Amino acid sequence: MAKTFFITTAIDYTNAAPHIGHAYEKILADVLARYHRIAGEPVFFLTGVDQHGQKVQQSAQKQGVAPAEFAREITKKFVGLWEKLEVRYDNWAATTDELHQGVVQKILQRLHDAGEIYKASYSGFYSVRQEQFLTDKERGPDGTFGEEWGEVTEIAEENYYFRLAKHREWLLNYLDAHPKAVTPAYRQTELRNAVEKLSGDLCISRPKARLAWGIELPFDPDYVTYVWFDALINYISFAGYWNGDEPRTAEFVERWPALHVIGKDILVPAHGIYWLAMLHAMGFADGEIPSLLVHGYVNIAGTKMSKSLGNIVDPGLLADKYGAEALRYYLMREAAVGQDMDFSEDRLVMRYNTDLANDLGNLLNRSLNMAQKYRAGILKRVDAEREWLAGVYETAAQYADRMSGHQVQAALELAFGLAGKCNAYIEAQAPWKLAKDPALADRLDAVLYNLAEALRVLAIVIAPVLPEAARKMAEQLNAGAAPAMGDACADRALADGHELGKPSPLFPRIEAAAAE
Ligand code: MSP
Repeated sequence: MAKTFFITTAIDYTNAAPHIGHAYEKILADVLARYHRIAGEPVFFLTGVDQHGQKVQQSAQKQGVAPAEFAREITKKFVGLWEKLEVRYDNWAATTDELHQGVVQKILQRLHDAGEIYKASYSGFYSVRQEQFLTDKERGPDGTFGEEWGEVTEIAEENYYFRLAKHREWLLNYLDAHPKAVTPAYRQTELRNAVEKLSGDLCISRPKARLAWGIELPFDPDYVTYVWFDALINYISFAGYWNGDEPRTAEFVERWPALHVIGKDILVPAHGIYWLAMLHAMGFADGEIPSLLVHGYVNIAGTKMSKSLGNIVDPGLLADKYGAEALRYYLMREAAVGQDMDFSEDRLVMRYNTDLANDLGNLLNRSLNMAQKYRAGILKRVDAEREWLAGVYETAAQYADRMSGHQVQAALELAFGLAGKCNAYIEAQAPWKLAKDPALADRLDAVLYNLAEALRVLAIVIAPVLPEAARKMAEQLNAGAAPAMGDACADRALADGHELGKPSPLFPRIEAAAAE
């Protein structure tokens, strides 16, 4: 039975607006989801927004609106952006959703009943201004807490704790037995090192007196749930984990385990430690622990984007200016998954013009033009130049291997390498010369057929990243139907006598002036 391929992405919270880093992650997850869909695997793609927590409450207060209202407005921005960027998910996880709140409470109650959660008192340094406990990390070189923390007092507070340390041994063994739990491999090493150092339990509550915007603990109404404990559960609550009286619905079991697509900053401790330990405590078996695909950061001139630096790049504006597909392609092509990349609008334009407009767009255009001019668009399936075509199908198979291994950049290199191969084939065969010599008619037919076949394959392999361009290509080739990976390796699928459509520009060049 086919395994359900399930992708979830970290749900976003930002108190400004979604930025290009968020867009990178969502596009990556969407590309993987689309690939697995066209490969014929069942996919469940979940993403959403993380709406609770102190930062939301504080930002709402600053704007003088209720947290729920504030969260709703931000959520709209995310939903609108994903629509514009062609990110198509199967379910939307908004953590203020009643269903989710109910599941979080049921899980908390069970863990509490099982002794996995206990109450204890903690005393430490507390910043009144920032409303948080401070640790040694927040101390300056002289040992004091900086001015940004305002008045710092030592207070004692009672809270609820999850027995995190108890799961340390299990987690180490699990990681050792599953060397592919985290991709790339060096992130798994980073996680393992962090687990080695793990000590202490996880505080999972906040007294309502200082944070009201959260999910109430079912066993103590004076507290709300710590935002990470709440947010991580979205991955199962929105996948149908607990819809009736008992958890683990049949629908959920079929979908699970997930592949989580997350940024490098939320591997340790959130996903790699808290989440895996939480699942283990809930009774998930080792085979039911999700895998983690950890991507790098989109930076600006080598530095992190931040509101204070004023260097936030708005993906919505870029999509308006160059089109969603130009942005999708650039982000997926620029760096390997896992690596950081530096965003550059010039590089985006350069990639668009060389790869999309020249290599792919022109190829489609000139191939269709020649077929129209020399053969009125009708293909003849002659038995010649078969090795060249065999190479095309071979490339499609390698592309599938790379995409299955989440190597999107490397897969795109193959796809656009194939476009380059076709352009070189045109130059080498010079159909305009073949057309002049009736004795070479068969060869001309073979070249035109092979180009159309290669373009048919290209329209499939570009589909995950460039769904709209793929659709237009297939339409112009008259190669109809929804893209399916299986068809990409089908030997000479275009029929004898197939009639090609008329060419129309796929990616008009971006002129320098327009890019300014
Ligand atoms: N709300 C938490 C996630 C909860 S998951 C149960 C969170 N939100 S976030 O808005 O800060 O980040 C959301 C995702 O975007 C994370 O995976 C994060 O790594 C990713 N990115 C945030 N900035 C990024 C870049 N500059 N570049 C690439 N991805 C980045 O963490």
